[in-house]
Amino acid sequence: MPREITKVHVPPIKIQGIKTKLVPFIAASLSWDGNGVWYEPFMGSGVVGFNIAPKRAIFSDNNPYIIQFYQDLQRGDLDAAVVRDFLTAEGAKLCQTPADARSYYYRVRERFNQSHSSLDFLFLQRSNFNGMIRFGPNGYNVPFGRKPARFSPALITKIVHQVAWAQQQIQSHDWQFRVADWQDVLATVSDRDFVYLDPPYAGRSTDYFGSWTAEDTEALANWTNTRIPGGYALSMWYKNKYRTNDALHQWHGELLTDEHYYFLGGKTVNRNAMTEALVVKKGYVAPAQRPVII
Ligand SMILES: C[S@@+](CC[C@H](N)C(=O)[O-])C[C@H]1O[C@@H](n2cnc3c(N)ncnc32)[C@H](O)[C@@H]1O
Repeated sequence: MPREITKVHVPPIKIQGIKTKLVPFIAASLSWDGNGVWYEPFMGSGVVGFNIAPKRAIFSDNNPYIIQFYQDLQRGDLDAAVVRDFLTAEGAKLCQTPADARSYYYRVRERFNQSHSSLDFLFLQRSNFNGMIRFGPNGYNVPFGRKPARFSPALITKIVHQVAWAQQQIQSHDWQFRVADWQDVLATVSDRDFVYLDPPYAGRSTDYFGSWTAEDTEALANWTNTRIPGGYALSMWYKNKYRTNDALHQWHGELLTDEHYYFLGGKTVNRNAMTEALVVKKGYVAPAQRPVII
């Protein structure tokens, strides 16, 4: 496993709670020989595992559209050229008359909720409100983001590079992508494997794809403490200027912390500084890192 990551590559899918800024901290904190399988059962954008780049990995999420997007890249059904053509054509329709941009966004949203195309998913993720992923009973329900100059040539080029990078990583490693609830994948972990956990935060109003409750957090903590035979690391917020996160006490590992700013999510409160925690199973903390005593 690489200890030092100086340049973090950003994948094409955006999501609230994306750990882009924490990747160097996470990579520097772990001690794992890399010989087993990297499990990432809450993969979201995939930014953590894609940058750490283990030889073998099982990336999973209960959101089928994230998984489908990366499977399409893996198979080659999607690539940088296809994405460039699509975003250029659809971006032009979105920008033709600023007054119509909103209604065009909602047309694509409706189309996605019927056909579930990975290209529409990418389009919505990059034109919606702050890169949010949220589903309700009628499907994808994030409102239009109203930023001017959406899909400028420079932004399309940036997204295309992100697609090319993600595809290159996926196709040059032994990685699998699965639609799964976390319990189903964790049931197959062995003692040589490493599990990176980044579950939703119970109590936050945004549902990624289904809800996440305090009971889910408790069940995950119990499983992590008793049923993961190899190493694990869990990301969670530690404190902000108002309070500390009591849920963390449910995990028995070593606590490491890092300060971080959120830029995603609709609410201003999410843009404040936050100290982030990484709980790492004893025996899997990199020697240079000093656990925090709480
Ligand atoms: C905090 S986000 C992960 C962010 C990711 N680490 C990143 O940096 O982009 C949590 C993820 O967990 C997924 N999720 C929520 N409930 C789940 C469940 N029961 N099983 C598996 N995945 C779930 C969500 O779809 C979301 O992608």
